[in-house]
Amino acid sequence: MSEISRRDWIKTSTLASAGIGSLAFTGLGFTSNPKTELTKSDNSEVRRLLYNENPNGPSTMTKNAINELIGRCNRYSTFHESDYTVLKNLIAQEEGLSAENVLLGHGSFEPLIWTATHFGSKGEEIVVPSPTFDVVGLFARTLGAKVVPVEVDDQFNMDLDAMEARISSNTSLVTICNPNNPTGTAMNSQTLKSFCKLVSKKCPVLVDEAYIHYLENWKSQSMAALINEGANVLVTRTFSKIYGMAGMRIGFMLGPKELIKQLEAKFTLGFPGNMPNSLSVGAAIVATKDRDFVNTSRTLNAHARNRFYEVLNDLSLPYVRSHTNFVYIDVTKFKEFKSLMWSHKILLAGGWPSKPNYARVTMGSEEDMNFLAEKMQGRKWL
Ligand SMILES: Cc1ncc(COP(=O)(O)O)c(C=O)c1O
Repeated sequence: MSEISRRDWIKTSTLASAGIGSLAFTGLGFTSNPKTELTKSDNSEVRRLLYNENPNGPSTMTKNAINELIGRCNRYSTFHESDYTVLKNLIAQEEGLSAENVLLGHGSFEPLIWTATHFGSKGEEIVVPSPTFDVVGLFARTLGAKVVPVEVDDQFNMDLDAMEARISSNTSLVTICNPNNPTGTAMNSQTLKSFCKLVSKKCPVLVDEAYIHYLENWKSQSMAALINEGANVLVTRTFSKIYGMAGMRIGFMLGPKELIKQLEAKFTLGFPGNMPNSLSVGAAIVATKDRDFVNTSRTLNAHARNRFYEVLNDLSLPYVRSHTNFVYIDVTKFKEFKSLMWSHKILLAGGWPSKPNYARVTMGSEEDMNFLAEKMQGRKWL
């Protein structure tokens, strides 16, 4: 070893042993941070029924793809076998669109924020359903947009007539979430198509389809086909839900070529090196082809959901029939329910302002769902 490299080595190893400049590895666990418990995937401690993750993912094929690509992380993903253009082409082919209709993002969150920025930074109005997963509204509000929430109807469906009625000459965007988070409801696809066709003549319609894969025959229920018909419709999708890849942070938006080109140029500067990382792109390519995993996940989820309905029926708790991997339940006293469940280390969501009594529970592993059912017995939070 030369003197210089010896000095460098001593410096590096001293920093490493002090846990500085490196991760403090504890066996194969990554850190001693107590919060690590919240991210453990084996659910041995905390039961994560909070973020609508797929407890069965990622698929074996996806994990193998990541393993295969990991040694090439030194390279930007450009000109890789997992080049982002390969993924764009594959998605386009799957959707009957062209690669120019596809915009990739770090999760679907990123294209949603780009959309909010593009359509909401000049004091415009954005019409959104309520309650919903309202990233666009939340972000656009910080930029000075006026967000117009339209309450779901008494069946928890988006009130499309009321939404249309709220469109003004200053409306720049209408957002839809189908199936909707947190209600779990899905709109009739013909009704939604008519709405999108009509409304997109006045302003763009953004349809968030993060949970569309939980519908049987999901392709026929998607609004993506309207793009080929010339409608001013944007559709977001994600690999975070049924594909079981939430931590990989990859999603996409489909839309008219001109608009996609504009958004890509504005928010990525078209810089290939900053497209989603090579591992997530490679994993997404394989996941898109792995139909068995999607079908199995859908079936397992439906099974868990049906069993959970039985638990809710036995407890006489009203709930909304779901088309997703979560169920929206009227628990009467959400705060008390949440804190009782947390005392058993079960994490869940709910209590949104317009429906303060409702909890949203993600369908977890069989073991987690049995544990939850046991802890709900006797309705002790009431
Ligand atoms: C309806 C909906 N859209 C988008 C997202 C964002 O997901 P991601 O950024 O992981 O794609 C979520 C996350 O829970 C969601 O529920």
